[in-house]
Amino acid sequence: MMAGFDTSSHSVAWVLFALAAHPEVQRRCRLELAACGLLKGKDGSAPRDPTLEDLNQLPYLNAVIDETMRMFPVAATASVREVTQPTRVGDYLIPPGVIVWPMLYALHNSTHNWLRPDEFNPERWLMAADEGGSHNGGGGNSDGGSHSGGSRPPTPQSSSDSAEASKCSGNGGKRFMPFSDGMKSCLGQALGLMEVRTMLVVLLGRYRFELDPAMGGPEAVQRSMIMSLTLKIKGGLRLLFTPLCSPEDEDGPAPGNV
Ligand code: HEM
Repeated sequence: MMAGFDTSSHSVAWVLFALAAHPEVQRRCRLELAACGLLKGKDGSAPRDPTLEDLNQLPYLNAVIDETMRMFPVAATASVREVTQPTRVGDYLIPPGVIVWPMLYALHNSTHNWLRPDEFNPERWLMAADEGGSHNGGGGNSDGGSHSGGSRPPTPQSSSDSAEASKCSGNGGKRFMPFSDGMKSCLGQALGLMEVRTMLVVLLGRYRFELDPAMGGPEAVQRSMIMSLTLKIKGGLRLLFTPLCSPEDEDGPAPGNV
């Protein structure tokens, strides 16, 4: 038996890291929250608490979460399983009886499956569901839809969108499964996602955050990535949180406690 631990909190940490490394993405998340009344008021008033409905109506934030779970799947490997019927994986046909250990990290970060996989690009999740951006139709989660869901342009908008779509069309395979898939998939997926979304809405609605310079920059953080059942950052992640005053406030008070 084996288990990862703190999967929800490590997922939140990776999203915070991605947002700290991409301030423009962080800002766009705040604008989305502001449009829903989930951002701290200009007068300093606290935002309202998010409801379950809110969590499903934040396509950009949910795309950010999907993209982070793609690049940094905290459960980087699923557990071992025995193949029960002849199964094709790329050029290989695996016969029944073979024990396999699926490497979700590789699936999510392979150029076979993703266009420029090392690029943090939430936009790829905002394409039409059947054009390649979602778990559906090539992305492939058993729930049949992307976590980001919601509003998507009906067709790819650019040549890079089409190229992304071509990565999953035709092979019918699955390329995104942070909660694994099939009989052994995560029992706590719905709860885990709700926790991650709620924590992010609450934090983003109140604080702007950036990487502690002591972390040495985003590349250094990625080099410190370790897999000890759970994918995490060696020594932890240090961020500076600045209380927000308004969506436009990029120069709030000096960073507070880490
Ligand atoms: C973001 C948070 C989470 C992620 C990314 C995650 C991911 C995963 C993954 C990849 C597996 C392995 C499945 C396999 O071997 O194929 C798994 C298994 C499991 N997870 Fe999660 N998990 C999360 C949160 C949770 C939570 C909150 C709970 C419970 C409250 C939970 C309960 C379980 C259980 C019971 C299994 C074992 C299922 C089985 O062996 O049948 N998970 N999870």
